[in-house]
Amino acid sequence: MSAGTPARLAILISGRGSNLQAFIDAIASGALEAQISVVISNNPDAAGLQRATAAGIPTRCINHRDYTTREAFDAALAAEVQSWEVDLVILAGFMRILTPVFVQPFRGRLLNVHPSLLPKYPGLNTHQRALEAGDREAGVTVHFVTLELDGGPPIIQSRVAVMPGDTPQTLADRVIAREHIIYPLAAQWLLCGRLQLTDKGVCLDGQAIPATGIDYQQVDR
Ligand code: GRF
Repeated sequence: MSAGTPARLAILISGRGSNLQAFIDAIASGALEAQISVVISNNPDAAGLQRATAAGIPTRCINHRDYTTREAFDAALAAEVQSWEVDLVILAGFMRILTPVFVQPFRGRLLNVHPSLLPKYPGLNTHQRALEAGDREAGVTVHFVTLELDGGPPIIQSRVAVMPGDTPQTLADRVIAREHIIYPLAAQWLLCGRLQLTDKGVCLDGQAIPATGIDYQQVDR
């Protein structure tokens, strides 16, 4: 990134792209100082591709079904992302398990959002699992991506109360509103140099952060 030029993002999606929309909106409002260089989907039918097009953002589709191995898909994906010379790669509902072929070249520049309070509930059906466990709170985590599925170091979490009568859908609706706030915020921290993934963990403003990330309620705003 050079001074005066907005940082460049690649956003990877598989579905509806509401987090992508949150990034588009955060950039439009000035909360996130960046530009989205490209939106890439593994799914040609992802509704989020239309959001990107509507916002004038170039799109690409790399269909995982065209590749016989995860590594071959990841190599094609990495080559496409690298061709856009981006500063940061945002996984926004990108529903593929990534191998080292993709993860290693982008270490420290690759973020994901996961709809649980990690380390609780990596993987799928997080809201249903939280309800079945009788949890009194749920939430969302933005984290650096490493080789462990949903196991990279957390950056920030936002918690919501589980309400009587909640279903996986009502809980998901409450959680995703928080995703849309904390994900662009974490990206802004990284792009303005406040946030780093170091060998000792995640640092914000030069200080190591808690193992579960910053609690959004503690963020000055
Ligand atoms: C979000 O719940 C996100 O946490 C998860 O996938 C979903 C993507 O939603 N990784 P959207 O496509 O951004 O609307």
